[in-house]
Order: sequence, then structure tokens, then C-alpha cells
Amino acid sequence: MAKGSYLSPHTICACLQSLGRTVLIFKGFSLTGPRVAVIRAVPSYLAGLNDKGKYMPKFKVAVMASGGGTNLQQLLDRFPDREDSAASARVCLVVTNRPGIGALERASKAGVRSEVVPPSEFETPEAFGDHLIGLFREEAIDLVVLAGYLKKLPPNFIAAFQNRIINIHPALLPSFGGKGMYGHLVHEAVLASGVKVSGCTVHFVDERYDRGPIIAQRTVPVYHTDTAEILAARILKEEHQLLPQVVEMIAKGRVEVVGNLVHIHS
Ligand code: GRF
Repeated sequence: MAKGSYLSPHTICACLQSLGRTVLIFKGFSLTGPRVAVIRAVPSYLAGLNDKGKYMPKFKVAVMASGGGTNLQQLLDRFPDREDSAASARVCLVVTNRPGIGALERASKAGVRSEVVPPSEFETPEAFGDHLIGLFREEAIDLVVLAGYLKKLPPNFIAAFQNRIINIHPALLPSFGGKGMYGHLVHEAVLASGVKVSGCTVHFVDERYDRGPIIAQRTVPVYHTDTAEILAARILKEEHQLLPQVVEMIAKGRVEVVGNLVHIHS
């Protein structure tokens, strides 16, 4: 780009919004030339730019969890809930389906808003979905991360947040996924099958259980001496690396969904 040239963010936003696409924001151009050219994807309703395109809110992440929340902790550490951190994103909301779990304690220690939303308190799945949609819109959430969330998400919520919900699964999808494949049941099935590698998968969530577009995977060896516990612990270490990496890539606009495939841009 030539020295002093300036791309009006509003022009870009207007073009892409008219196409119904995610808005790309070019941040950091100065009058003396482009010092930093960061391309980040944010939903159009969040663009919130001033005339010079200088203001860029951080990518806002919500995490849904049902248990201890060690993956949540990785995200809290990497993406603190502040506008002035060096991170590309911030975790600003934690939602659980039940009270008294480790994930809530972790949110509280990090000073992050948390909400307990038990699906059983709603008359219909749709009402549950509407509640989630309201909660995430209220916080202007860009991305919802399922980190050990064990409840079924209602279709209206999945549709409203298409390509903006990701899940981490402790096996190499599309194998060892689907209904009933959670917790140690996954690792027991892996061990019983005799496969020599397992791992973890981060994928977009769509209406097909554990079948949404795969974003990234990491592998681990499987040994004949493994128990489900040993294998789970080996995989969890990889999950802790993978999940923040994927959130970072999405926050930086490097992830594109093309049909059922995901393209990662450098
Ligand atoms: C992880 O193994 C994740 O893959 C699965 O649930 C587990 C959650 O663990 N979906 P934690 O609560 O993050 O420790």
C-alpha cells in the first residue's frame, strides 16, 4: 500500500455488510504509512469505528462449561477481560448449566461475569435458546466457546450464532463423536478400537452433533498400557494448547468457513 494511503473502514464495512458478510477491519494505518496492518474479523454490528477507523473493540468471547473448567482457565489466562491487554480477545462471560462447579469459581477469580442457566428451567428448548441469544447479544459476544459444555444447544441458538460457536472434543473427529460420546466414554471407545493415535478437535457447532466444520486438531499416541484416565490426561494437555490457539486465529480473522471445510489463512 502506498505511503499515506488510507482505506476507509466505512467503505469496506458498507460493501461487506451489503453482501451480508463479516466485516474486515484494517487497523493501524497512519498518515505516514501503514505501521501495522492487522486484519480482524468482527460481526458487522460490532464495527463501532470512528471516522479514522482508529477504534477497534476487542473480540468478545463467551465460554460455556459444565464442569471443572481447566480449558476455561486457559482462555481466562490468555484473554483477560480488559480492553488494554495485548491479547486479541477478551473472555467477558461464562455460562454454566448448573451452580457450584469449578468453572464458576474460575470466572469469579478472574473477575468475569458468570451466569447459571439451567436448561430445565425453561418450558421449551426454544425459550432456552432465546434466553442464550439475549444474553450473548447483551454482551455483544463475537464467539461462543463450548469448553466441556454437556447440554444440548437448541436449534434457534445455533442458527442465530452460525459459525460463531466452537466446541472442543477430546478425540479426532469425525471418529469417536456423536451422541453419548463424552467424558471417559470417548477414551474407552478409543482404547477398545485399537487405534494408535487419538487427540482433540476444535470444530464449529452446527445442528449435526459433533459434525460441524473442523478447525484444528492435535494428536497424541495411544499406548496399550493406557487407561481412559491416562489417555484423557495426555489429551487434555493438548486441548489446553489448541483451544486458545483457535480462538486467537478466529479473533484475528484467519478462519474462513467454506461449506463444510475450514480454510486457515496465514
Ligand atoms: C474436555 O476434555 C473437553 O474436550 C470436553 O470436556 C472436557 C472439559 O474439561 N468437551 P475441562 O472442564 O475444561 O477441564
